[in-house]
Amino acid sequence: MDLDGVDPKRIPRHVACVMDGNGRWATKQGLPRTEGHRAGEEALFDASCGALDLGLEYLTVYAFSTENWRRPPAEVRFLLNVIADQLLTRRRDELHQMGVKIRFIGRRDWRVPRWVVKRMDEAARLTENNRALTLTVAFNYGGRAEIVDAVKAIASSGLAPSKIDERTIRRHLYAPDVPDPDLVIRTSGEFRVSNFLLWELAYSELVFTDVLWPDFRREHLFDAVREFQARDRRYGKTGSRHDDGIPS
Ligand code: FPP
Repeated sequence: MDLDGVDPKRIPRHVACVMDGNGRWATKQGLPRTEGHRAGEEALFDASCGALDLGLEYLTVYAFSTENWRRPPAEVRFLLNVIADQLLTRRRDELHQMGVKIRFIGRRDWRVPRWVVKRMDEAARLTENNRALTLTVAFNYGGRAEIVDAVKAIASSGLAPSKIDERTIRRHLYAPDVPDPDLVIRTSGEFRVSNFLLWELAYSELVFTDVLWPDFRREHLFDAVREFQARDRRYGKTGSRHDDGIPS
């Protein structure tokens, strides 16, 4: 573990990852795209270990977007299996022993099979009292859908429009208790946000890397944190550095 150069006093509380490049990784190896997703699960486990090494409080990963249903049915099925069988069955106990709390954000609509919902709920229940790290898996997630769902909930609560402010919206997001990400990492050399945490990443630092997600290991997470620590976070202010680099 090479934490050299990482300032232990300025560790981000919350890191979020767009795990991109699984398909390209597999194609490069002459394998079916699905093997990239299987390898991606290994990468996620190693990144979670790295998050624990660093002492992050929150790691959020984009596992399946509201748009991913448009992929070929066999790939969608495979992805659901990787999440439900590998992560939520085989890995679940390991993560539990490591003190990881597993939770999910995203829509639970008719497209999400009942057996997947059941495994998600079981994993969340088993790990709900863990405190070492909260691993939030964004599944059937879209940033715009999250804002739409928040607006619907506020409208149906009957709150007067004059009483609605940013905090009202924040309270109606999928995980209102989780602080906004300090750092968002996107792999595979793509420079897009792709509908991930649109509200939450307003002030996040973005780090892009060419590494394809299945090759991502905790060292890459440490590199991204070093890059984050070299940035000057001003939150719209000018001049002087923010005290600790962490938003309140
Ligand atoms: C993007 O790669 C990745 C995804 C759509 C899925 C992310 C899923 C995993 C990493 C699997 C494991 C996840 C969990 C939560 C166990 P892509 O297929 O779009 O790659 P490409 O851009 O190279 O085609």
